Amino acid sequence: MIILLLGLPGAGKGTQAKRIADYLRIPHISTGDLFRKAAQERTELGLQAREYMEKGELVPDGVTIGLAVKRLARADCEKGFLLDGFPRNVIQAEALDQYLASRFMRIDRVIDVAVDETLLLERLTGRRVCSGCGVSYHTIHQPPKNADCCDLCEARLIHREDDQESTVLERLRINKDLTDSLAGYYKAAEILRTVDGSQEIGAVSNEILECLDIRS
Ligand code: AP5
Ligand code: ZN
Repeated sequence: MIILLLGLPGAGKGTQAKRIADYLRIPHISTGDLFRKAAQERTELGLQAREYMEKGELVPDGVTIGLAVKRLARADCEKGFLLDGFPRNVIQAEALDQYLASRFMRIDRVIDVAVDETLLLERLTGRRVCSGCGVSYHTIHQPPKNADCCDLCEARLIHREDDQESTVLERLRINKDLTDSLAGYYKAAEILRTVDGSQEIGAVSNEILECLDIRS
């Protein structure tokens, strides 16, 4: 099954993607995670991407599409995958469709995780991410047992550089119209479903599974 999660920054794409991909036993592919890993490893691509990410801007399409396609070509994607944060505009969506068509594949379902913008700022500024396994926590809504380390792997929790308030506002501004256009693109293809992302985490997962015609 090929699934795509859409939504504004902070909508809960990463949180839900991990849960759903684990449940379905398919790889979770996040271009944001791939860029952050490349930046941490100080590769040329990573350093280039970092300049955009720090400002809350999108990494140029050519670089992003190249990175995503390279990841999708790996053997573990043959039986399906879940995309989070890619595509992020119609140019990337068309490139993905072309790539999938060349492999006789297509997207089964696109889930738009809709959350009121006033909630997003609070979610992102309160987010803490595990530097080891990448799981997200929230200082209020999903606190770790120990303030500074991950419940699962005990690695240190970090506050993402692009989760500072001014950068969050810029990310929301940049992504708003792009997300709306993408939703329109997939609505026209009749594969879009919208879920209420403001519910508690488990309820959102259940709604996503229902949209995939899978009962939890
Ligand atoms: P990326 O890492 O993809 O960031 P994003 O899209 O801005 O999304 P986030 O990761 O911030 O939010 P999320 O929706 O995953 O929310 P989460 O589950 O963590 O991209 C980062 C950057 O990389 C981009 O700005 C860009 O520069 C570049 N990039 C990436 N892809 C690109 C592309 N395709 N093209 C060009 N550039 C690209 O949840 C947020 C918080 O809320 C957490 O603390 C969580 O615990 C909490 N939470 C989640 N769900 C709930 C809930 N239901 N109730 C209460 N709290 C919740
Ligand atoms: Zn961890």
